[in-house]
Amino acid sequence: MDVRLRYYPRAHHPPLGDHEIHVWLATPDAGDFDPAAFLPLLSADERRRAETITAPESRRQFCAGRGILRTLLGQYTGTPAVEIPLAYSAHGKPHLAAEGSSAPLEFNVAHTHGMLAFAFCRYGPVGIDVEQIRSVEAIAVIVEHMFDEKEKAAFFRQPEKEKLRTFYRLWTRKESLGKAIGTGIGGQAAPGQAAAGRWMTMDWPLGASHHLAVTGVQGMFPPNIS
Ligand SMILES: CC(C)(COP(=O)(O)OP(=O)(O)OC[C@H]1O[C@@H](n2cnc3c(N)ncnc32)[C@H](O)[C@@H]1OP(=O)(O)O)[C@@H](O)C(=O)NCCC(=O)NCCS
Repeated sequence: MDVRLRYYPRAHHPPLGDHEIHVWLATPDAGDFDPAAFLPLLSADERRRAETITAPESRRQFCAGRGILRTLLGQYTGTPAVEIPLAYSAHGKPHLAAEGSSAPLEFNVAHTHGMLAFAFCRYGPVGIDVEQIRSVEAIAVIVEHMFDEKEKAAFFRQPEKEKLRTFYRLWTRKESLGKAIGTGIGGQAAPGQAAAGRWMTMDWPLGASHHLAVTGVQGMFPPNIS
């Protein structure tokens, strides 16, 4: 099957094929854009939410995140960014409120210090996670508490110097799956939603500083990539 997962570092993109996931990354701290410029793109609710965020970095990140999301959704759907109708599931996953298409546009968003990540897909639900690599206190306790037996084995068999990267690899994979399903991390999936074999996850190091994972429905990715 001719299926590709593409990563576009630039602002223009080709059409989203039925069997593709587009992944976009933005670095809002890079200083090359002003998040305030996105304010006019936000809905009234989002502007109110922005006003309640007191930490300047978090507010900048929220405005940039919503502004870029709306800009990209606007490009994919042909709708003015400010008019994009966003709604939220019971677990908080945003989605397009009104899309009559037989292949509705699915998307997901993630943010971490220094980076925003967006995934778009028409084939089925999609989840994305990006994390900044930082030292983690009591990492073994978190692994014991949060990871399943297979993940624990994968973590503990690593040499010490590989453990941190492995932790983030496993974590982003797990979180992107939870976000594709819509329950988030540790949430209870509806019957069938979490079925083994339904989903496929891929992950990538983004240099030394970040790690990214994306989950889509099986059939999205070439079978020879694991
Ligand atoms: C959803 C969750 C995985 C987010 O993790 P995080 O590391 O804090 O944040 P990330 O940067 O990865 O992702 C945040 C984005 O995910 C999206 N999101 C929120 N809830 C989501 C869900 N249930 N599924 C998928 N995506 C979700 C949102 O777009 C959010 O960005 P926003 O706040 O700017 O809208 C985590 O909060 C979680 O597991 N929550 C449990 C779900 C739940 O029941 N929440 C209670 C709210 S009703």
